[in-house]
Amino acid sequence: MTAPWWKTGVVYQIYPRSFLDTNGDGVGDLEGIRRRLDHLAWLGVDAIWLSPVFPSPMKDFGYDVADYCDVDPLFGTLGDLDRLVTESHARNLKVLLDWVPNHTSDQHPWFVESRRARTSPKRDWYWWRDPAPDGGPPNEWKAAFPAGIDAWTFDSTTGQYYLHQFLPEQPDLNWTNPDVMRAMHDVLHFWLDRGIDGFRIDVVHGIGKDPALPDEIPEWRGIPHVALNEQPSTHELVRGFRRLADAYPGDRMLVGEVFQLFSQTHERYFGANDELHLAFDLPASVATLWEEAAWRERIANVAARLDPIGAWPTWVLSNHDTPRHRSRFGSEARARAAAVMLLTLRGTPFLYAGEELGLEDAEIPADRRLDPGGRDGCRAPIPWTVGGTHGWATARPWLPWPPDAGERSLERLRADETSILHLYRRLLALRRSSAALREGSIALLDAPDGILAYERRADDERWVVAVNFASEPIAHAVAGTVVVASDGAGEGRAYRRILGPDQAVVVRRER
Ligand code: GLC
Ligand code: CA
Repeated sequence: MTAPWWKTGVVYQIYPRSFLDTNGDGVGDLEGIRRRLDHLAWLGVDAIWLSPVFPSPMKDFGYDVADYCDVDPLFGTLGDLDRLVTESHARNLKVLLDWVPNHTSDQHPWFVESRRARTSPKRDWYWWRDPAPDGGPPNEWKAAFPAGIDAWTFDSTTGQYYLHQFLPEQPDLNWTNPDVMRAMHDVLHFWLDRGIDGFRIDVVHGIGKDPALPDEIPEWRGIPHVALNEQPSTHELVRGFRRLADAYPGDRMLVGEVFQLFSQTHERYFGANDELHLAFDLPASVATLWEEAAWRERIANVAARLDPIGAWPTWVLSNHDTPRHRSRFGSEARARAAAVMLLTLRGTPFLYAGEELGLEDAEIPADRRLDPGGRDGCRAPIPWTVGGTHGWATARPWLPWPPDAGERSLERLRADETSILHLYRRLLALRRSSAALREGSIALLDAPDGILAYERRADDERWVVAVNFASEPIAHAVAGTVVVASDGAGEGRAYRRILGPDQAVVVRRER
């Protein structure tokens, strides 16, 4: 097979703080991930992506990086990370790190130096500007969170404002400065030399800015600037990242978080096959409702935009920034049907740790809310065992447990062959065994109202995936054998040509 692993494989996102705590401080750590590698190999994923584990004041829980080339002691040591990589590779699991190039922490030595004086040699590494004539910020841009704040903070030491598209503690780097680019390229080399298989690139579309820093157009006033930012200079920089990664052996991979409100330019991030290997199209991916028409539209749209440029799609339902799809879609039956789609669409699926357990978001009481962006619920700790501390080294993790933690624990679901966990495992195994599902073509099929159906095909191998979005059974004619069903019903038998409410099936077509 010639396709690179990142086209045929499945990536599993780990939010390290919430995965497994082994030393009792309530926060997940690298050792916790290492101890669960056998679980991931058993499940059948191909790669893990770790949300940031670098030294950080944790104002944005690691997305405020104070040193790009080390590990925060909360998570372990650089040695622990090396060991995790070695042991992952021994299980054929690739390891992706989360690189945050748009901004640093305000505690990063680069910013500490930059903020010191207008004459600092690093002053120009960030976006410093004089106040507007009225003393206010240089333009009207808004930060992403906390909701409504300006994207500029006044620094009284030097009497200027600095730009931050996120928290004031996350100043934006100035990528027009070649020294910034060189320093960041060194970061990529540091990790690639250590054997890291690639990066998820945080808010990659944010790094190039319009040098004139103009106000938003009137219709967009008040929308966080980062959701609108789109600049040719970003693409030039991304081509540089790609050249750097591709110079390494072994298919190193760059997947970018492209999060533009109107999905207006997502496909540009593939360039002429010289920018990102993969790009998330957020928020479209996580905002698609549980409706047949919405999914049909989205699947057609992805194909229409990416096929002509030879780009490979990604599919993602949940991550650490958005309510889990089990919570959004409203039932386990739907989460199961969604898993069938996620793992049979054409493109690379990204799973978010805990979705294989069917976890819902945690209820976060007011006195335990931590995230300035209101995203704590989807970051609840993963329950591994039924009772006690659910496998964690403490009874009180940093966030509350998700609902029914014992019933949703790995221990309980692994013992139950009918569980959603086993459904994920069957789907992952099926995908691995089928060239058509991994790399084949996709075509939407005509189907009765309420049913989404598509065909995956390679050579003479043909599959039909059918999903019933309705709350009643619907007759649906396809000749073939049910190989996986979202509820397990009828697997291994001829398709009965009827789909139950919120049921999805993967049918092998007779020739
Ligand atoms: C991305 C991350 C999010 C973070 C933000 C700022 O959107 O996924 O968690 O808060 O970037 O780094
Ligand atoms: Ca810990």
